[in-house]
Amino acid sequence: MAVFELDPFMRSRQARVEALLRERADRLAPAGTPPRLAEAMRYSLLAGGKRLRPVLCLAFADAVSRASTDTAVVADAACAVEYVHTYSLVHDDLPCLDNDDLRRGKPTNHKVFGEPLALLAGDGLLTEAFTVLATGPEPVRGLLCAELARAAGAAGMVGGQVLDIAQDRAATLDYLLRLHRMKTGALIRAACRMGVLAAGGDVAALGSAETYGDAVGLAFQIADDVLDVTASAEQLGKPVGADAEAGRHTFPAVVGLEESRRMARDLVARAEAAVRPLEGGDGPLAALARYSVERTS
Ligand code: IPE
Ligand code: IPE
Ligand code: MG
Ligand code: MG
Ligand code: MG
Repeated sequence: MAVFELDPFMRSRQARVEALLRERADRLAPAGTPPRLAEAMRYSLLAGGKRLRPVLCLAFADAVSRASTDTAVVADAACAVEYVHTYSLVHDDLPCLDNDDLRRGKPTNHKVFGEPLALLAGDGLLTEAFTVLATGPEPVRGLLCAELARAAGAAGMVGGQVLDIAQDRAATLDYLLRLHRMKTGALIRAACRMGVLAAGGDVAALGSAETYGDAVGLAFQIADDVLDVTASAEQLGKPVGADAEAGRHTFPAVVGLEESRRMARDLVARAEAAVRPLEGGDGPLAALARYSVERTS
């Protein structure tokens, strides 16, 4: 079976996401937005990053649609997911959470704009995600808002962040699986499902996105934990060793590096199997699943 070559695909998709985000840069901060707030929001959003979540959203839309997926609702869904993800990074880096100085290769938002404005820039990005997603005539936008809100909310990403800092957290595999599925997995799973929903995919495709998103979401955070102990700050564009410093429970700390890598590989295999019916042979989604753990940044 021919192996799909990810690099050119990834570069072209990342470029499309950058263009979509830039097209919406004015709407992100509507008339009346204090200029310093607009600047702080754009600073983190347009600082680069791998753009994996919007790329997944677009790739699922492409996989399920025979027509063009170059539609406003698909593009808005991809951008809204990246707004929410970027807000989560801005808040995650704050001194009251991970207290990090470097993100996407640049000083963190609060280092440049101060803590109060960084907090509010995060709030702005989160809220404007729903403006962009809810604005437009397509009825599916309601479903997309519900999907994104659920993934980002109390039983999803925000709840996962709480499990990460809980004083009484257990250093067990079960606890870590639950934590990683919530803090990182929920949003990645939603990005996949939103691509299917926005492009009018059927129930079977939504099921594939669910299984794939769950596996890739979990594998992605296992890889994030592994990279925190094996990579350099230059490679990652964010500090390394930060988890141990903050006293976090991670996969390498709880099950060891080798077992972490083995579990991530098993999850990738599960994700590849889930999208085989959609892609036929090896395609972009299978390659993106491998990338989620083989990445070096
Ligand atoms: C970092 O996410 C935070 C996690 C959920 C692990 P990414 O590794 O996707 O960060 P960017 O978007 O590429 O900067
Ligand atoms: C953050 O996890 C997950 C979010 C929801 C932002 P980490 O704290 O491990 O992310 P990094 O390593 O700072 O990117
Ligand atoms: Mg954190
Ligand atoms: Mg962090
Ligand atoms: Mg991390």
